[in-house]
Amino acid sequence: MVKVGLFGAGVVGRGVVELVRTQKDRIRQTLGADLEVSGIYVRDTSRPRTDQPELETTDQARVLESADIVVEVMGGIEPARSIIQAAHAAGKPVVSANKMLLSNHLGEFSGPLRYEAAVAAAIPILSSLREGFGAIRATRFEAILNGTTNLILGLMSEGMDYNAALQVAQDKGFAEADPSSDVLGHDSLYKAVLLTHALTGEMPNWSMDAAAGITGVTLDHIRAAEAEGKVVKLIASGDIAASRVSVKPQAVPKEAWVRIQGGRNRISIITDVAGELVWEGPGAGSHETASAVLGDAISLGRTLVLS
Ligand code: HSE
Repeated sequence: MVKVGLFGAGVVGRGVVELVRTQKDRIRQTLGADLEVSGIYVRDTSRPRTDQPELETTDQARVLESADIVVEVMGGIEPARSIIQAAHAAGKPVVSANKMLLSNHLGEFSGPLRYEAAVAAAIPILSSLREGFGAIRATRFEAILNGTTNLILGLMSEGMDYNAALQVAQDKGFAEADPSSDVLGHDSLYKAVLLTHALTGEMPNWSMDAAAGITGVTLDHIRAAEAEGKVVKLIASGDIAASRVSVKPQAVPKEAWVRIQGGRNRISIITDVAGELVWEGPGAGSHETASAVLGDAISLGRTLVLS
């Protein structure tokens, strides 16, 4: 039995609790043991957050003690940062989906830490890049890394106004707790930083100035792009040699990008000897993100089962 201590019961945390239950047989098969949620840290217990309210507590230490593996899906810097440090101090491996924390503070953590869910949710992009690029070099990438803004831009092109479109993204569970991180391009920038780190082993030089979001995009911009056979998307770019990342809305060719609708992500990486490689898939959403969290937990759990 591998026990998971869950910190956070928002959209992703609830997804983790649900998938542990509904994917029980598949998880047993891939892990070689059962996996259970042993405790759920929540900020307050005034109302149930998950379908296992009996596990919910405001006692961080209790959840940590109960766990073989800590899963941090709270978002934000604190208390997520202290929780990961406490887990490592207690010798426990950690899975996190926290792109804001990891892009800013990855170097502070010294214990086992996986964070596939932090970039492009269900697409296993970080492990692919770390494991699969041993003999080739990426030179640059262009990517849609934020489902919220991608959905909003799509709905705006169909005539919906910006605020109504943002509400749809929130209702679908795509948006951050503070959606300004999505619409200002910050969330995409954090992910571009982590993508670069997966490609090079080093953090790029970056600051928040490198992010421009979609708040200035109007229906006129969208229609002007369409008249040229293009589509407006929020594109995260990386120049690997220059160690630079940036995010801004761009009119890009329809052929490659228009089919990336709603919460989907697309990552195009140009390499020196293998040309262009492309990944597409669900980049936001409860079960989509929880699937990547559990993939990491199972991978870490296998080591525990075997030891
Ligand atoms: N707010 C994020 C998005 C969630 O819309 O893509 C997934 O990281």
